Amino acid sequence: MSETVLEVQGLITAFDTERGLIRAVDQVGFSVEKGRTLGIVGESGCGKSVTAMSIVRLLPQPAGRILGGRVMFQGRDLTKISPKELRKVRGGEIGVVFQEPMTALNPVHRIGRQLVEALRLHKKISQRKAWAEAIELLRLVRIPAPEMRMGDYPHQLSGGMRQRVVIAMALSCRPDLLIADEPTTALDVTVQAQILDLIKRLQQEMGMALILITHDLGVIAENCDDVVVMYAGRVVERAPVKELFANPLHAYTKGLLASIPRLETPPKTVLPTIPGMVATLSEFVPGCRFCQRMGRKGPTLRERPPFEQVKAGHWVEMCPVCYEGKEAGA
Ligand SMILES: Nc1ncnc2c1ncn2[C@@H]1O[C@H](COP(=O)(O)OP(=O)(O)OP(=O)(O)O)[C@@H](O)[C@H]1O
Ligand SMILES: [Mg+2]
Repeated sequence: MSETVLEVQGLITAFDTERGLIRAVDQVGFSVEKGRTLGIVGESGCGKSVTAMSIVRLLPQPAGRILGGRVMFQGRDLTKISPKELRKVRGGEIGVVFQEPMTALNPVHRIGRQLVEALRLHKKISQRKAWAEAIELLRLVRIPAPEMRMGDYPHQLSGGMRQRVVIAMALSCRPDLLIADEPTTALDVTVQAQILDLIKRLQQEMGMALILITHDLGVIAENCDDVVVMYAGRVVERAPVKELFANPLHAYTKGLLASIPRLETPPKTVLPTIPGMVATLSEFVPGCRFCQRMGRKGPTLRERPPFEQVKAGHWVEMCPVCYEGKEAGA
């Protein structure tokens, strides 16, 4: 039996702006099982990071607010627990790795000190023991000569090394869930592959659940079991990864898939791109936002399409225009 580690239901997150409360995440739901990897994909501005930040309640303050829904993590609703309990969960039971490693590291403290502090925040261990564990963690994330690196400041490390340190910190307390939000975007391609391999290997060793956020469907194909496709603050399609690639049903997912290069693509072919851009939050229509993107007018813009399961594990937003299953329009 699979064991659900995290279940997000109907999550609504809004920002307080001059135009009032505006929803960046609008009733998003998904779940992740132990040892499995869920990918969240979508273009820039679709709400992937806001979703991740909502789960651990690290939203920009005071503007960001969770307005509704539940984030069930091992029997507790994280939207309801006290700040004290939340601190225990964050960095203890849930590890988070964000895109830019420098934001997670303190530039004025040495790597060793930061790791030791992270370890001692959640575990009652001596300074000496924490120091030894920190060295082990650096070894685990394949940092050469870890004893020497403990004395380095973040700026003395390369981007890839810094991200390894951030991963080491996120993993320091052996979390049950790791959320990695574009963990490799700031790195060059070969380092990207190394970091993703490292995350996957550690996931297998520790049996963690993983949420991997990316705008890159190639990364999803190689690393995930299940996929959530986000568009304009909503989930438009959700399916096991093989099913999504073999049988995409929403026009947005199809557009994303068409824009990735394939081996059989002749060189210098111009890949199709999805026209237009994701609307800004204040312009979002209540109805189908992909219709909005495509410049369509009419009733589909007014009412939110239902989100339905069309076959086992495969869910789609059933806009009469953007749902492109076989029977669509029949
Ligand atoms: N502090 C904030 N105040 C107001 N709006 C915000 C704030 N932070 C994010 N947003 C808005 O929320 C929306 C979703 O942003 P989010 O960062 O989640 O996108 P994303 O899918 O992670 O994109 P990317 O791929 O660029 O990381 C965007 O329209 C963004 O402008
Ligand atoms: Mg983001």
